[in-house]
Amino acid sequence: MTNIPFNNPYVTGRELAYIREVIESGKTAAGGRFTERSEALIRQHTGASNVLLTNSCTAALEMAAILVGTGPDDEIIMPSFTFPSTANAFLLRGARPVFVDIRHDTLNIDETLIEAAITPRTKAIIAVHYAGIPCEMNTIMAIAKKHDLFVIEDAAQAFLSTYKGKSAGTIGHLGTFSFHATKNIHCGEGGALLVNHSEFLETAEILREKGTNRKDFLAGKVEKYTWSGIGTSSSVGELAAAYLCAQLEDAREITAKRAVHWNAYDAALKGLRTNGDISTPFIPPTAQHNSHIYYVLFSSREKRDDIVKAGKSAGIECTSHYEPLHLSPEGLLYSREPSLPNSTALPGRVLRLPLWPGLPENCIQTMTAIIGNRQ
Ligand SMILES: Cc1ncc(COP(=O)(O)O)c(C=O)c1O
Repeated sequence: MTNIPFNNPYVTGRELAYIREVIESGKTAAGGRFTERSEALIRQHTGASNVLLTNSCTAALEMAAILVGTGPDDEIIMPSFTFPSTANAFLLRGARPVFVDIRHDTLNIDETLIEAAITPRTKAIIAVHYAGIPCEMNTIMAIAKKHDLFVIEDAAQAFLSTYKGKSAGTIGHLGTFSFHATKNIHCGEGGALLVNHSEFLETAEILREKGTNRKDFLAGKVEKYTWSGIGTSSSVGELAAAYLCAQLEDAREITAKRAVHWNAYDAALKGLRTNGDISTPFIPPTAQHNSHIYYVLFSSREKRDDIVKAGKSAGIECTSHYEPLHLSPEGLLYSREPSLPNSTALPGRVLRLPLWPGLPENCIQTMTAIIGNRQ
């Protein structure tokens, strides 16, 4: 019986009132007051100039793939240690993912290996900010500039993280966030596309609205909306936007509450990592993170699974994380990379510990004792 779940989505207390407002207004479709307010809040929190709320980070990545003109001959550089959506968004356009190894310390794409993976077919580099800890963006942007490539930040986990003072998601040409129930700020299923280069904006707005200029119609600029380009259905309905709005209003407070637990884990586990058998998140001096995940990396799957079992017996639910894409059944069809030693060494070794606002203190003490006793 699990008493302390891995995740316990935070609720501000205003979600229901906002949803009620939407129901009473009768305007539940996308593009209403709460979509606008949520987009404004994301702009305020991140300094992004253009934000389009979407129904998922996956949808935002698919839009990004279309916006940069991804086609069948293209190669897209990305880490293998990521969620399938990072690759699928580009596969859907016929492009091939080219997996580059990750750094052993941050588990983010190793920026020093990117240049060697570039070919005349390379279209874009995808920077995935694992655990909300930003990639080495200055280096990635400089490589992209030198080779005339696009950079898309998959900041699914990195809302409110910063790199050298700039918000994750705002540095590449395009950035994406997830507001899935597992994320710090959530609405069940939700996301956002950050359009950091305004030449993409008009096309992005049409794309999100099923290929129509409905945005101009809602703004009273045209009498009727019409088919204006290729499109998808990636906007989010007002009921979810209302829920998200309540969350975004408290985003700083929610993140601060998570940070208390993240820091407590880090202080407690610091002493254990000296013997080299486990490692814990490394935060580069360039980065400020959003306390999305606290993970421990073990030296073997057996050791990790043993801790999961012991946690379960103590009533604490711990989980694993991504299995590298290049080793997955679908990834094997595309992966031509000779070796990705750090990514290949990861399967079965990542343990994520429960982390949510209000996490009982004894969870951290118990898990530290369990890990310590098995060192
Ligand atoms: C790196 C990364 N990209 C994309 C996604 C997909 O996000 P969503 O569920 O909002 O589509 C996830 C989901 O966790 C993720 O971790």
